[in-house]
Amino acid sequence: MLYSEKVMDHFQNPRNVGKMDDADGIGEVGNAKCGDIMKMYIKVSNGVITDVKFNTFGCGSAIASSSMATEMIKGKPIDEALQLTNKAVAEALDGLPPHKMHCSVLAEEAVRAAVKDYYDKNGIAYNPEDFRENSCAHCHE
Ligand code: FES
Repeated sequence: MLYSEKVMDHFQNPRNVGKMDDADGIGEVGNAKCGDIMKMYIKVSNGVITDVKFNTFGCGSAIASSSMATEMIKGKPIDEALQLTNKAVAEALDGLPPHKMHCSVLAEEAVRAAVKDYYDKNGIAYNPEDFRENSCAHCHE
């Protein structure tokens, strides 16, 4: 079986799908190679992510990864969400096939882009190092 049950579950029943009209931060990222696009919305209150929504125009693994990522950052302090790695997302999904790891990278990047947007909109200082382009050549194959 190529995909774990968790991947199939999050693909078929994605959590937190949709648009958020009053989002505090929005991140949109894409992978030029496969053409998949992911949009992540966060609602922040007192430094905590109180709500998350996403829209993914992409493959099943990208949908499953974004769904899992929203579950992993919901209710978490914003700086903790920033620590979310694509590896942690893939692990929470009980693994992704190697050629699908880049789909989880998209989820990590979307979360980071949404946090950056929130910081920018609210004039909150941050370390640009935290928002470096992901340089993992393997994941971006
Ligand atoms: Fe590109 Fe899945 S094939 S994100």
